Amino acid sequence: AARYAVFGQPIAHSQSPRIQAAFGRAEGIEIDYRAIEASPQEFAAALEAFAAGGGVGANVTLPHKEAAFALCATTTSRAQRAGAVNTLLRKGTRWHGDNTDGIGLVRDLTGRHGLDLRGRRVLLLGAGGAARGVAPALLDAGILELVVANRTPERADALVDAMSEPGRAISAYWEALREQGDFELIINATSAGRSDGAAFSLPLSLVNSLTTAVDLNYGEAAIPFLAWARAAGCRNYFDGLGMLVEQAAESFQQWHGVRPGTDEVYAGLRERAA
Ligand code: ATR
Repeated sequence: AARYAVFGQPIAHSQSPRIQAAFGRAEGIEIDYRAIEASPQEFAAALEAFAAGGGVGANVTLPHKEAAFALCATTTSRAQRAGAVNTLLRKGTRWHGDNTDGIGLVRDLTGRHGLDLRGRRVLLLGAGGAARGVAPALLDAGILELVVANRTPERADALVDAMSEPGRAISAYWEALREQGDFELIINATSAGRSDGAAFSLPLSLVNSLTTAVDLNYGEAAIPFLAWARAAGCRNYFDGLGMLVEQAAESFQQWHGVRPGTDEVYAGLRERAA
């Protein structure tokens, strides 16, 4: 039977096997989808072994998204702009790579949360793999301006350059965010909450009466940023669980040709997280 998997490190707490199994049950498709732990050194060989054993599709998560991009024979244009791949599809003897993170975020924001992104100013915090994964889709969703701020400014400049939309995607110094005005959407794509758990401190001037704050992390890792968002008076704030489910649905569709409903799976994960 066709096999599917998610590769990452760590991977034990990944929700992806649960999500893909639930989609499969709902759609009447039998799914063999496992979590495979691999270090950066092991990743390429683990993926080859998986293919040799009947693997035809995979998700890739931290820290392998850039390595997966490099391993693919072909990639979608959104994966190219992100420089990262989270969805692999076997084509003959090669891997084809896509990145569904950005469309997953946009679907969560516009579908589940009813946001209209068109004409909005968006602040993206962070310039690592997570930020690069979502930036192209945000621009494609018709936002007015994407301001990228990162602790290490050179990485924000590099991300903005990779978008090649001068004027619409711009970088800003984290220390000078106060000068950037306010935003309808603030996205935390840093790993700060995952690593040090320290409190977020951002200028209150970033927030207006419409501001939504979203953390691409979920669970404990999203707590510091969402605590800031709440204290700052953001109208709406939520973690990346919805994005996780939406990007998974997008991957499922590419592998199995049907788009699964996501509401039930999302509700189930929310309940477990509560
Ligand atoms: P991911 O794949 O999750 O994006 P990454 O590529 O390692 O992981 O990127 C981590 C991001 O979080 C980077 O933007 C990083 O900023 P630097 O480029 O300056 O390292 C950001 N980050 C990590 N810890 C942070 C902290 N304590 N404060 C602010 N930004 C932080």
